[in-house]
Amino acid sequence: MLTLKETVERILSELTLTPPQILVLAESFRAAMEAGMRGKESSLKMLPSFLGKPAGNETGTYAAIDFGGSKVRVLRVKLQGRRQVEIVRQKVFELQDVMKRINGRAADMTGSALFEGIAAALQEVLIPDAPVSLGHAFSFPFRQLGVNQAVLIRWTKEIKASAVEGEDVTRLLTKALAAKQMNYVTPAAVVNDTVGTYLASAYDEPATLIGSICGTGHNSCYLGAYDGKEMIINLESGNFDRVAPTVYDQVLDADSDRPGEQRLEKMVGGRYLGELFRLIIVDLIEKNLLFRDRREKFYLSPYQLKTEDLSVLLNPEEQESPGTSKFAEKYGLQDVRIEEYGVLRQIASAILTRAARLVGISYLGILAQVAQSAGKRYVVAMDGSLYEKNPQFASQLQYIIKTYSRHSVGVKMVKNGSGIGAAIAAAVADGEKRIKIAKF
Ligand code: BGC
Repeated sequence: MLTLKETVERILSELTLTPPQILVLAESFRAAMEAGMRGKESSLKMLPSFLGKPAGNETGTYAAIDFGGSKVRVLRVKLQGRRQVEIVRQKVFELQDVMKRINGRAADMTGSALFEGIAAALQEVLIPDAPVSLGHAFSFPFRQLGVNQAVLIRWTKEIKASAVEGEDVTRLLTKALAAKQMNYVTPAAVVNDTVGTYLASAYDEPATLIGSICGTGHNSCYLGAYDGKEMIINLESGNFDRVAPTVYDQVLDADSDRPGEQRLEKMVGGRYLGELFRLIIVDLIEKNLLFRDRREKFYLSPYQLKTEDLSVLLNPEEQESPGTSKFAEKYGLQDVRIEEYGVLRQIASAILTRAARLVGISYLGILAQVAQSAGKRYVVAMDGSLYEKNPQFASQLQYIIKTYSRHSVGVKMVKNGSGIGAAIAAAVADGEKRIKIAKF
């Protein structure tokens, strides 16, 4: 029988990535990109966006929807050219509130109710009857057939709205807009949120190479080439499947809505890290190694413990003693032994460190695939609360890039960039349409 210390050491070592593992994984990520691009079997879908780098001189007023999973943001955005953007109006809704207006209960989420709810939200920031082009940031994997045609491959982040998978989301949105007498809105472009984040950054920073989200979900896109044309490619990197899972990763995956899918996202996404932590702690309790006389205190239901709680637990300003810790107070653990509290912190830290390093490794893979001469300057455009609110996550990610990349890579936070990026996408699409019409 292993002691608490021995068991924790074993878990920590399973969560630790050694330098050789880091290099092997980065290469395996790069190889998966290449295979995906060649249409070979790969966990990376490499989805073309039909958009390249914006010029920075796009102008006009556009509408935008940013549907990320748990929230819906609607905006009216003025692109001023000269790399400047102004948000004229915006509103943010919790998805459940959007749904409640339509069918009273989020549980009966059908595709048409979802898009009607989104259209109703959008109505609140637009000038009625004033014609406007719309960019739609849709944070799910979709196969793009054109700049404003996107067939949802499958829902992620545990969203379940019926009758959307396999459908063109622009068609569903157009139908919803018509049902709300909003024919003055023309959907011009649909982008993944990583692509939106990329565009928002590249509008004023031409060195942007990668757009990435580290929030509830995880994914990246990069500026590559498709059919010989410069194009932003959505990797759907959350589906990368070459990282060896611990037994806890396996349990989390098996109990999720979509076992076998989004394996990387389940190791790095804010939706999952709190649950991974809970699974490890419950295992230590079941093994009779932790909280012996007060084990019932930690019997929480799945997903009750949030990733934000891990940040609270690791907050450097928090005392290292359970008696005064906000985390311990929230979960009624103030009177556990200080060693036990230390174990909680060690595990939380290892989970966040592994997550950040895995994301960093995926950037190394992208850089190896696209960046040519050493020493170039690149920017990663980043959005998402995990990166923003976790100093440990941010520093571990930067540590990986600094230590292992031959280039000078900076991470730039582009908060809520995907909505702005969607507006830029609409402007680029409208511009291209005008050029085509002018040619005929
Ligand atoms: C989706 C991606 C999205 C990411 C971040 C993932 O679950 O598959 O399309 O970019 O979440 O929102």
